[in-house]
Amino acid sequence: MKITSSLMTPSKSKSGALFIGFFSDLKFNAIAKEADSLLGKQISQRIKSKDFAGKTGEVLTLFTDSGQRVVLTGLGDEKKCDLGTLQTATTKAIKAVVTTPVKTVNNYLTSLNFKNIDEAVAGKITSIAASHAAYRYEVTKNFKKDNKHNLTSMTVYADKKSAAAIKQAASIATGVETTRALGNLPPNICNPDYLAKQAKDIAKKYDNCTLTILDEKKMQKMKMGALLAVGRGSRNESKMIVLKYTGTKKSQRPHVLVGKGITFDTGGISLKPGANMDEMKYDMCGAATVFGTFVAVAEMQLPINLIMIVPAVENMPDGDAYRPGDVVTSYSGKTIEVLNTDAEGRMILCDALTYAQEYKPQVLIDLATLTGACVVALGHVASAVMSKQTQLPQDILQAGIDIHDRAWQLPLWDDYQKQIDTTFADMQNVGGFAGGSITAGCFLSRFCEDVNWAHIDIAGTAWASKKDGATGRPVAMMAQYLINESNKSK
Ligand code: BES
Ligand code: MN
Ligand code: ZN
Repeated sequence: MKITSSLMTPSKSKSGALFIGFFSDLKFNAIAKEADSLLGKQISQRIKSKDFAGKTGEVLTLFTDSGQRVVLTGLGDEKKCDLGTLQTATTKAIKAVVTTPVKTVNNYLTSLNFKNIDEAVAGKITSIAASHAAYRYEVTKNFKKDNKHNLTSMTVYADKKSAAAIKQAASIATGVETTRALGNLPPNICNPDYLAKQAKDIAKKYDNCTLTILDEKKMQKMKMGALLAVGRGSRNESKMIVLKYTGTKKSQRPHVLVGKGITFDTGGISLKPGANMDEMKYDMCGAATVFGTFVAVAEMQLPINLIMIVPAVENMPDGDAYRPGDVVTSYSGKTIEVLNTDAEGRMILCDALTYAQEYKPQVLIDLATLTGACVVALGHVASAVMSKQTQLPQDILQAGIDIHDRAWQLPLWDDYQKQIDTTFADMQNVGGFAGGSITAGCFLSRFCEDVNWAHIDIAGTAWASKKDGATGRPVAMMAQYLINESNKSK
């Protein structure tokens, strides 16, 4: 969906639908008054007859004489209205028009005088939420002719001051869509080679982007023994995808994002149970998030240098697959005893993280659907941030609050490290039941000792249910983090 901003008022709008917001006090602002007169006072009537009370998420569609839709949208108690409320209300308003013939929308929710939300932020949140609500997966499904999504663009009511924020939001929304599109693809299409081809397309699209791909032969030469071990059971060749964006002077050290790209996780020889194994197509959502964030940054042309690194590997059982008990030597030289081939994410990430440090990052962040334990700890609400640094995780959490794509920190104290010690190698790849997300983080930390690094476990947030598919989280948080970073260096 195309997102723009303007100060055009309802009487001038030629859009198929207008979104008019109300708090539960049902006061009319100037925009609501104008809409009411366009509607021959239908809004006043519907409020009087108690058909609309302005409750959060409540929507009521009215029609002008010329057939234009006006979607009354409730945002509840003015004092309680926060970013979450605005997100919910926007979603409901879009859902009210998305299966209708409406092609364009004027969104006036931003004309409300929010007590707790900055104007520019409101514009951003409603834009990202609208784009999210308008998306549907279409690649491998045949839709009936009458089941059409016609909505192509939305204009958000905003002044010049907020226009830049809305432009950013449009870029972030494009990034989120990129991530959802990749995440939702079936694993027989979205394999390591497919991801590499997507990176190629991105490199072609933006002048200041360049691509390097390491194939298995190259990675063997480099001795990336941990990553290669995971890929051994698959017919699909493993790839390391390295996409560079130069947005400022070359001397400025890059931000490097690493994303777990397991295009399908069977568990390998430590085979997963059959139930819901299909969901392990989402095990490349760390990679998809990094792709989406990269696209958002390239769209915004932020004045930073950014490198995305995606280890893309399929984890399959096979006669040549790696086994429990194997000891492999990682790219760093550290040895790893494989106790469970289903703890494969950390195996590919450790080599990618070691490699990433060759780019001398000022910040190194990895994103991964790393542990089921993360879903137990934080559910589908918060991504988990882990770091040995003090400032970096705070900056990430703050970005999540800023854009309402939130995360929560788990400790990476040394007290947990002993759970991955072993007699037979420098470390083992599992830490047992207790603190499963943290010991996975501890494993990665052993490869990130002298770098400003954070790990984000997105196992609970990258997808929420089979029906709704990939969420595109936490692209918004990551893009906002990089926006905040680019403002720092100004
Ligand atoms: N990709 C999974 C983690 C996962 C599981 C994410 C379910 C979302 C939902 C990861 O590769 C995995 O299998 N982790 C194991 C680690 C264990 C063997 C230490 C897990 O969480 O069970
Ligand atoms: Mn696994
Ligand atoms: Zn996995």
